[in-house]
Amino acid sequence: MQREKSMKNIIQPGHPLIKTLVTRLRNLETDSYTFRKTLSELARLLLYEALKDEKTEEINIKLWSGSGNFPYIKGEKYVFIPVLRAGLPMLDGVLEAVPEASAGFLAIKRDEKTLKSTVYYDRVPPLKGKTAFILDPMVATGGSLDHAISVVKGKKPDRIFTLNVIGAPDGVRRVCENHPDITMVIAQVDEKLDNNGYILPGLGDAGDRAFNT
Ligand code: PRP
Ligand code: URA
Repeated sequence: MQREKSMKNIIQPGHPLIKTLVTRLRNLETDSYTFRKTLSELARLLLYEALKDEKTEEINIKLWSGSGNFPYIKGEKYVFIPVLRAGLPMLDGVLEAVPEASAGFLAIKRDEKTLKSTVYYDRVPPLKGKTAFILDPMVATGGSLDHAISVVKGKKPDRIFTLNVIGAPDGVRRVCENHPDITMVIAQVDEKLDNNGYILPGLGDAGDRAFNT
């Protein structure tokens, strides 16, 4: 996807390993267990990219040879928010990288005919002083992610990142233009949507693939 000037807030890592994992997700022969594990691993790699310029703090730790100050990311300020269902497998990967972080949960479902999304569960804590990471593999029309960002903004975090796997050009543009104050880290922007609002070539329905439905 051509990055437009108005879309300064999108990061596409382009790493060969990330591309390989996306290909594994696209492959219809990938079983549900491997699909979830791959989403988890991808989320971790996208988090690395999101935090590549993050400031570390010096912490004092016990060493085998005394003690000393060393750099550390203080993860207590991070809140990971998977969008159910398909975002759920991404949570493990990011929590493995930053175990001190906390998690909130948002469930969003888009209507298969109108493609409009509805929030049906919001268990995201107040986010004052926090950095929020919204986890959802798919950005099709962009409606669900747009909705998720608006809900999260209402909880007043300091910063918002979204970690996404595959997007369609118009959906990605919609989110980035409606929310120039967030940063989207996305593995891949595909060609287009089909007539039913599914991404092509995409990977199919991520929730169904992840949970065998
Ligand atoms: C999927 C996906 C996104 C949404 C993207 O969820 O996880 O949340 O579709 O589509 P959009 O950009 O057009 O809004 P879905 O609504 O299928 O729910 P599910 O994860 O429970 O299957
Ligand atoms: N949701 C999905 O899971 N896949 C798509 O291609 C579009 C929306």
